[in-house]
Amino acid sequence: MIKGYAVGISGTGSALPEKVLTNLDLEKMVDTTDEWIRTRTGIGSRRIADDKTATSDLSTEAAKKALADANLKAEDLDLIIVATVTPDMAFPSTACIVQKNLGAVKAAAFDIEAACTGFIYALTIAEQFIKNGVYKNALVIGAETLSKVLDWEDRNTCVLFGDGAGAVVVERTEEGMGILSSYLGADGGNGEALTQPAGGSRIPASLHSVENKLHYVKMDGSEVFKFAVRAMGKAAMEALRLGGMELEDIDFLIPHQANIRIIEGSAKRLKLPMEKVYVNLDKYGNMSAASVPVALDEVVRNGLIKKNDKVVMVAFGGGLTWGSTLMKWSKD
Ligand code: UT7
Repeated sequence: MIKGYAVGISGTGSALPEKVLTNLDLEKMVDTTDEWIRTRTGIGSRRIADDKTATSDLSTEAAKKALADANLKAEDLDLIIVATVTPDMAFPSTACIVQKNLGAVKAAAFDIEAACTGFIYALTIAEQFIKNGVYKNALVIGAETLSKVLDWEDRNTCVLFGDGAGAVVVERTEEGMGILSSYLGADGGNGEALTQPAGGSRIPASLHSVENKLHYVKMDGSEVFKFAVRAMGKAAMEALRLGGMELEDIDFLIPHQANIRIIEGSAKRLKLPMEKVYVNLDKYGNMSAASVPVALDEVVRNGLIKKNDKVVMVAFGGGLTWGSTLMKWSKD
């Protein structure tokens, strides 16, 4: 591992659309029940962006809160990375739109896409730039408006997801603090389990693609489920190994919020009691790349972690991808 500056999170923020869509609302839209959704997934409601709200809008709101928390001016930002599978458009990148919205004139800006693992990938990229001294700070955002790419007639997918954005400011910190290790992985060979087939160069937008609903999320739920429990456990263990820590050193786990059964299965593998695991999917569903940073923001603002706590963030998602970050929390 390259030795360099220690890198920590100095501010967090999140943004959620106002509109709440409950399981009872969904009962009126597709053949489902509140009972099925709660017992199979743990989800009770989710937030849905209105027609005028795009991913950059939620990103900008979350970013402003993270910058205020870090006491950093947008003009002083060196880098903005947005992780999303629901960008405002193919280009310009959502990160460039956020850069404009914030007036972060000095910052380089780009998007990355690793589906629900996107935030962990983006944070790891930002970490490298700061660790090696190229940049002093970065804004890392995980943001989605998945409601815009869901088939609201498909009960297999539409009950699972929600919209939101989470942001962190990343800066140099004290030696031995902050991000201790990061681990990323991918298995493109099984990528077909979770896709949005049309809208790219393979199946460009056409009347045919629209009529055949190819712009919507398609998922083999049980395949993703089996992969998820394995991937979350393995990724968390790898971050610990790379950081030279043991399972019993973990003070808090912030997992990707896809399904309570996946979270409980992963916690069991890691021998962690659920009191040390953050869960908010009952309120928001699966927000893909936004899920981990929104959870982190809530954990911080509710005072659930304190300086020096060892925190693992872990995610899995389309690609297929997985990733984890082990941190010694460095903020007072
Ligand atoms: O961030 C990554 C994104 N994706 C995920 O993390 C998803 C991972 N997978 C899962 O969370 C679960 O596999 C699901 C929640 C999607 C499904 O739960 P499951 O226990 O694996 O159910 P299943 O796929 O085995 O389906 C059981 C039944 C099926 O009916 P039949 O074929 O047995 O008659 C489904 O059609 O449940 C049916 N079903 C529903 N019933 C009521 C599927 N969705 C619904 C629904 N309401 N919304």
